[in-house]
Amino acid sequence: MTRLSLFPDGTTIENDSLTIAEHNLAALADTYGTPLYLYDRATMDSAVDAYRRCLAAQYPGPASVTYAGKAYLCTAIARWTQEHSLWLDCTGEAEIAIALAGGVPRQRILVHGVNKSPADVESAIRHAGTIVVDNQSELVRLSRHIPASASRFPGIWLRLQPGLAVGAHAYTQTGQRGSKFGLDREDLIAAALNCRRYSLPLEGLHFHLGSQFRDPSPLKPAIRLALELAAQIGFEGDWHFSPGGGWGVAYHEGELPHPDLERYVSLIVESVLQGCRAHGLSLPHLHLEPGRSLLARAGVAVYRVLTVKRLGDRTWLLVDGGLADNPRPALYAAKYTCLPVARPDREPGGRVYVAGPYCETGDVLIEDISMPEIAEGELIAVPVSGAYQLSMASNYNGARRPAVLWLEPDQARLIQRRETVTDLLQRDTE
Ligand code: LLP
Repeated sequence: MTRLSLFPDGTTIENDSLTIAEHNLAALADTYGTPLYLYDRATMDSAVDAYRRCLAAQYPGPASVTYAGKAYLCTAIARWTQEHSLWLDCTGEAEIAIALAGGVPRQRILVHGVNKSPADVESAIRHAGTIVVDNQSELVRLSRHIPASASRFPGIWLRLQPGLAVGAHAYTQTGQRGSKFGLDREDLIAAALNCRRYSLPLEGLHFHLGSQFRDPSPLKPAIRLALELAAQIGFEGDWHFSPGGGWGVAYHEGELPHPDLERYVSLIVESVLQGCRAHGLSLPHLHLEPGRSLLARAGVAVYRVLTVKRLGDRTWLLVDGGLADNPRPALYAAKYTCLPVARPDREPGGRVYVAGPYCETGDVLIEDISMPEIAEGELIAVPVSGAYQLSMASNYNGARRPAVLWLEPDQARLIQRRETVTDLLQRDTE
């Protein structure tokens, strides 16, 4: 069953039920309710190991992996990043607070943001090791905070807009000319001069071309440009360079095999080595900044089919979650696949549409997929649900954000409880 290979490593069928890390999904759904999100720790660990292995095998300089917290962040995930000594990319003060709750030390907190608020900036200065500056106004604001003792001020990296983009959908492309992200080459050079003028500790360059891509070739000219600018700025000795994240994953059978990480890392490494040679630069501390490719495949969403509805020649499996916990199909026309939890190896029964309960025509999780005959009350599991679903979840139609479990062979731990109506009412002041 090809579909099974999209699920976390070690997903099996035991006693006729999908089983992850030795946990029977039907039993978990009975205990914790649905929609339910599961994270398989072993799959997350092996994704980190794969990055580390590729970097160690190919890059002769220092290298780090930064987890892009925007893919999904809670205290347990922040804590997990430190079990691997990952850097953590935080967007703004709330993600910084989660990082701190998970015990992430200052030197591994890196703060991004295209329009950081004064509170974001203050929190970054107080808690982060690195701030990636997006624009000149931010630099001016930062300069107002320069303390008497510069030793505790975070290192500054500048974000370049290389004029090139990657990404499966226009809305996940960021590096192109005209995007709101980063500094163009003239602005970047001016910003570097301003760092000197303001005595801000300029330590590196960064760009991020976009998200969910599997052809790394546009990174090559972007890295060439970044290193040319690095030489112009005059980085020497220890300096940092990050070509961002964005490496893709396969979401459904049509996207298999999984993108080849080695090819991605080797293109980056070759381009960095080449550029440094060409410009007489010392090898930078190289940072890769993945979110999705670390967590997506470790995550599974489990829903209960409440209604099977036949309208004309179309069969709808109406489940108890959708747009509110996974807005990606509606936002990016993202395609997913699924399996029934009970006897997932059943023969196909026909084609179905899987949709949620929300008052939006776009609340369709999966369009036109082959599934066995499904009865009302059955559970289905959607693989590759670990990134940008929960982190973009909403309370639309009063949806309460799902419970999240952390799976290891000897334990299934509740790492985020399901939201309640009381949680929703708590914000109302009258
Ligand atoms: N670094 C920066 C500066 C970023 O903005 C991002 C993602 C990443 C790293 C990590 O990218 P990843 O490796 O996870 O692709 N909501 C969209 C994705 C938005 C990505 C935003 N930036 C989606 O669901 O596809």
